Amino acid sequence: MPQYIINGGKKIDGTVNVGGAKNAVLPILCACILCDTGVVTLTNCPDISDVTYTVKILKKLGCKVYVTDGQITVDSKDAHFETLDCDEVKMLRSTALFLGAQIGRFSSAEQCLPGGCELGPRPIDLHLLAFADMGITVTLADGVIACEGCAHSANINLKFPSVGATENIMLAASKSNATVKIFGAAREPEIIDLQNFINAMGGKVRGAGTDTIVIEGVEKLVGVKYNIISDRIEAATYMAAALTTNGTVTVNGINFEHILSFTDFCVNVGGSTVFNKNSVTVKRASPFLLGVDYIETAPYPAFPTDAQSLALSVLTLGIGTSCVCEKIFSDRLTVANELNKMGADITVVGNRAYVNGVSCLHGANVTACDLRSGAALVIAALGAKGTTVISGAHHILRGYQNLLQNLTALGADIQLIKDT
Ligand code: EPZ
Repeated sequence: MPQYIINGGKKIDGTVNVGGAKNAVLPILCACILCDTGVVTLTNCPDISDVTYTVKILKKLGCKVYVTDGQITVDSKDAHFETLDCDEVKMLRSTALFLGAQIGRFSSAEQCLPGGCELGPRPIDLHLLAFADMGITVTLADGVIACEGCAHSANINLKFPSVGATENIMLAASKSNATVKIFGAAREPEIIDLQNFINAMGGKVRGAGTDTIVIEGVEKLVGVKYNIISDRIEAATYMAAALTTNGTVTVNGINFEHILSFTDFCVNVGGSTVFNKNSVTVKRASPFLLGVDYIETAPYPAFPTDAQSLALSVLTLGIGTSCVCEKIFSDRLTVANELNKMGADITVVGNRAYVNGVSCLHGANVTACDLRSGAALVIAALGAKGTTVISGAHHILRGYQNLLQNLTALGADIQLIKDT
């Protein structure tokens, strides 16, 4: 299991370019299956293991896929229906989107339930109910989902703005004879990116970014060149590193609208943020960080659950007492235990973490249990005095490209030990 070894206490200073968004490129790679004419070329693709796993499944489905330095080309002309390998499906959460993509292309899909970060129960009942609303026959037996039929016109009312369910509906209906309306849709920027990609291929989807999305199915989707949006959570990670180390970091390649809630957080804890076109510069406004009375995670545009553990790391150093409430995933505060090993003072009660700020953290042996808690441990370790060993680094490699190189360039003393 790979480990990061970080000798903390050094300021993280300088400029970093964020890469393409993991949570945009993964649904868009699945959407490539819908394209039966021409070749799709995706640029600004992150070099992360979740992309590697997804490309492997695309190839199993008969797609020709070529990956070179940030660019992925996909030729799905000869793609065919396949029952997906369970071990591969369980490698990540977004494999659930192969259901909608295969329904859209082959009117058939069969695979086991997806995997993904251990954040508590992660059902896909909303996805399957939506398929049934569109007239697709869905069976679930022994953990294997089988879907038969193509999408028919429907009005779908999502009882929760599920990102994955919204994306799966768009994938199942974009290449069909149906008109499907989603009420209560997720509004994340990655949903907008998926809509823009489908429309660039000739689709007719509108409303992404609002809670109502209308998909007018079309007969054909054709190859296109498309640039993936930047990763707003990766940007937040480097912004948080500036705060925990009392450094100054300029993050390039961001869309400031996508990080407004995290920028507000940075200011509320005593940071300063200066925007300049597609970059933001973050540093502490004074030598100290402040606690914040209460933060809660909620669907976009509210404070993102994916940035919650990053905020927790910063708040360990905030003067006073803070409260962080996780309202999306039932088990996404486990990083508190690891931060406490580094000298933090966090008490978790239900879905709330109460943080008493300390003057500094110290190095320790800790374990990443998911992607974002791993990132939170990295930014805590950067600011801590002494050496921190972070086991479970494979979780972090799922979603952060060039983390070692970027942090080293920003002045961090960090190593990645691949085989331990
Ligand atoms: C996506 O997961 C992201 N993953 C997650 O990012 C992100 O945390 C999440 O959206 C929320 O923003 C990808 O895009 C690959 P949801 P997803 O469906 O689609 C419940 C990261 O670190 N729910 O919006 O799985 C679910 O249990 C990852 O990059 C149902 O009950 O999120 C959860 O409590 C982690 N039934 C809540 O909704 C369903 O059918 C949010 O889930 C679907 C979801």
